[in-house]
Amino acid sequence: MKKGRIVIDRDFPIAPIDEKVFSSFVEPLGRCVYGGLYEPGHPLADEDGFRRDVLEKTRPLRLTLNRFPGGNFTSTYRWEDGIGPKEKRPRRAEVAWQCIETNEFGLDEFARWSRKNGSGVMMTVNLATRGVLEAMDCVEYCNHPGGTYWSDLRKANGFDTPLNYKYWCLSNEIDGTWQVGQKPAREYGLLAREASKAMKLIDPEIRTVLAGSSSPGMKSFPEFDLEALDIAYDQVDYLSVHNYIGNAEHDSPSYLARPITTDRFLGDVSAVIRSIKAKHRTDHDVYISFDEFNTWHSIAEEARFREKWRIAPPLLEDRYTAEDALALGGMLLAILRHADTVRIACVSELVNCISHLRTRNGGGCWVLPAYYAFLHYCSYGRGTSLETKVSADTYDCARYNGVPFLDAQAVENKDGGVTVFAINRSLDDELQLDAVLRGYEDLHVAEHIVLTADDPQATNTEECPDNVVPRTDGNARIQEGCLSAVLEKMSWNVIRLVR
Ligand code: AHR
Repeated sequence: MKKGRIVIDRDFPIAPIDEKVFSSFVEPLGRCVYGGLYEPGHPLADEDGFRRDVLEKTRPLRLTLNRFPGGNFTSTYRWEDGIGPKEKRPRRAEVAWQCIETNEFGLDEFARWSRKNGSGVMMTVNLATRGVLEAMDCVEYCNHPGGTYWSDLRKANGFDTPLNYKYWCLSNEIDGTWQVGQKPAREYGLLAREASKAMKLIDPEIRTVLAGSSSPGMKSFPEFDLEALDIAYDQVDYLSVHNYIGNAEHDSPSYLARPITTDRFLGDVSAVIRSIKAKHRTDHDVYISFDEFNTWHSIAEEARFREKWRIAPPLLEDRYTAEDALALGGMLLAILRHADTVRIACVSELVNCISHLRTRNGGGCWVLPAYYAFLHYCSYGRGTSLETKVSADTYDCARYNGVPFLDAQAVENKDGGVTVFAINRSLDDELQLDAVLRGYEDLHVAEHIVLTADDPQATNTEECPDNVVPRTDGNARIQEGCLSAVLEKMSWNVIRLVR
């Protein structure tokens, strides 16, 4: 049996966890929107065409924000295409994903869907192929109280009171060669600074997000971020970075260790922000908006087979399995660990596309194993992140040496209880977990949730939706102030301690 130990101390919090790290991302890509959250004519569609079965799965996540509409989609998007009467909306060649965008679902529909879902919206404006004025217009449409062209149009379109969207992304992945309108850091920094300034003249309450590196693997990281942030620092509030991890090599031990690189990336991005803050000798803080992250295996492969100019084809619908729950879980723990600097985090995406929530057009809706890790994080990850010292047996794999079998992070919940999230990365062995909980001696175990499968490649399907589901029969117990549990091989664990 492998061994791992954690120590937490009530006197050593990292930071309160921002509610906005419980967010997601919706892009009109593949079947995320069409056939995903929106499908008029589906037997379970409501009067707006929103699938009730999808809402039933997204509501329990209590998402704070949903980023919309992108994503690469944003770079040639005209937000005005998605407002007002549907019959007047243009069909466009959507070049990022080489599809036809009917614009049947746009800004107006997403506002309605978000209200029904109980979540807010983080808008992305197009600074790749459009400019400052169009970004200002969008803020005016969404947030201006009335008496202007765009705000009155919003009212005419059924939204009498402002939508009051507070968070605005200044384009997306503008460092990427794949981006229409890709820009060098200096050009982008100057444009983003002016756009942010102008958008805040329309609504001073908004907070803006500068687009930083698309992934830790970008050759231009961290220079791009340093240069753009240096130029825009005083005008922006967040720096956006993205990270996807996958198991294209079919090497599970390496894959399960990949969240360590996410953790390091977030630390490096924090250092970038700190260094620019020091350079500017300012009190203004900029935080990380980790507004796209998830597991994604098929990045390169799929494009080769893609048939062009279809409407909402199935794209980026990887086969996700039990091991993806641990990989995504590891990324979620990295976010909690960086609670002091990561203040927005959006799992990418919400339905079908790169998602752990699936639908069939005209058919059912089911969840893949990693959905549960995200649900647990959204349910029990709220509160204050605690310094969690982990020591554990380690392993070497093709990509990394000295990987701890145990990954863990503790949160003091708002009711004073504590949740310990713990991953056993061993594919073969149980792990004996011992935990010292200083300052929490009065807690007892309310629940030990376990998510695992005999086969790391097991998953759920529409026909067998309950193949891999969490159980609540974990064996965690507390004796004399010490928590102990045997973590099953390849398992995601949520140990909930209450008074
Ligand atoms: O989420 C899919 C795509 O991944 C997004 O459009 C883009 O921002 C990223 O490269």
